[in-house]
Amino acid sequence: MVRVWVTGGAGFIGSHLVRHLIHTKSDWEIHTIDALTYAGNLENLADVLDHKRHIFHKVDIADSNSVENLWTEAPPDIILHLAAESHVDRSILSPLDFVHTNVLGTVTLLEAARRHWRGRSDTLFYQVSTDEVYGSLAEGEFFSEASPYDPRSPYSASKAAADHFVRAYGHTYGLPYLISNCGNNYGPYQFPEKLIPLTITHLMERKPIPVYGSGQNVRDWIHAEDHVRAIDLLIQRGQRGRTYLIGAENPRPNLEVVRLLCRLYDELTGSSGSESLITFVKDRPGHDFRYAIKPSPSLKALGWSPQVSFEEGLRQTIAWYLSHPDWLDRVRSGAYQDYYRFQYGERLG
Ligand code: NAD
Ligand code: TYD
Repeated sequence: MVRVWVTGGAGFIGSHLVRHLIHTKSDWEIHTIDALTYAGNLENLADVLDHKRHIFHKVDIADSNSVENLWTEAPPDIILHLAAESHVDRSILSPLDFVHTNVLGTVTLLEAARRHWRGRSDTLFYQVSTDEVYGSLAEGEFFSEASPYDPRSPYSASKAAADHFVRAYGHTYGLPYLISNCGNNYGPYQFPEKLIPLTITHLMERKPIPVYGSGQNVRDWIHAEDHVRAIDLLIQRGQRGRTYLIGAENPRPNLEVVRLLCRLYDELTGSSGSESLITFVKDRPGHDFRYAIKPSPSLKALGWSPQVSFEEGLRQTIAWYLSHPDWLDRVRSGAYQDYYRFQYGERLG
């Protein structure tokens, strides 16, 4: 039995990954390690939570005593590290939370791995990272594996720092690692602070849809299930000590994405005039202009390609949010209301 820790497994991408691994790896014991912040929710794992090969641990990865105790209780062979503060707008409001989890949390896990995995070459520390570490592109440019790091938000700076620490542990201590940097994910279970689920929930509630600035900023979108399939393949066949770029070659201006969501929502629900909800609001400070990825040729050579088309993925995602009103109510209760008022109160009047 291979013992695998998935940190951040109760979050958006983490829950897709845990479900995928439970269903495809019959000889793996999956341990979800999650602090259950506002973004983590055991409901995301409802269908696998009590599976005989799944164990949940509520742990803050930056708390070295808790990580040490957990290591004694359930020492891992593989760490799939997804736990993070993940929202750029929140990183602008409170950067230290991002340093705590994304930097200190990552190094705390690396320290435990360094101590306990000494001399083992059959282990893996897999760092799930973002294309945002590469900064912002001009029209027509793409990120590649050769792009230099140039993080420009507190979020991307904290992820870049974490990536650098992972490489440093590989170089200095011989830690077997992999890093993948992926574009913007979407799909079911995404916390409704991010552009796509925020737009869908505002469509459902017929509220103004806030588009920052001119709406011409570009993000490269991929369905979370395609991301998870790439991670699975790289765990099996990715070269240790390497970095891979994951993307579905789907860069789109935000306004185009929001308009598409409006059209699909109207088609699916029989509503009309959703586009009139689009409201241009004050831009995000330091808003990166364009992210676009040339996925690693070696990832394609291993046989990975995205399976979910953007329109079909968005249709399925809208349908999921429409059929999960209780999930939405619960994740948006409490502290999220305060964040939402602070973030959008003035912008949307
Ligand atoms: P998310 O915000 O939905 O989930 C993050 C999870 O981490 C939550 O379950 C939260 O409870 C947990 N967590 C936060 N702080 C913790 C701590 N100190 N200790 C333990 N658990 C903690 O994030 P996501 O969108 O699922 O992203 C997962 C990973 O993928 C992150 O590392 C992110 O940087 C990376 N990533 C995300 C995207 C994207 O578009 N969402 C794209 C590329 C890479
Ligand atoms: P987001 O989902 O926050 O992801 P990231 O900032 O990590 O790319 O935002 C995606 C894009 O959508 C980004 O260019 C900012 C923009 N955006 C809006 O226009 N309005 C919003 O309310 C949000 C949350 C984002």
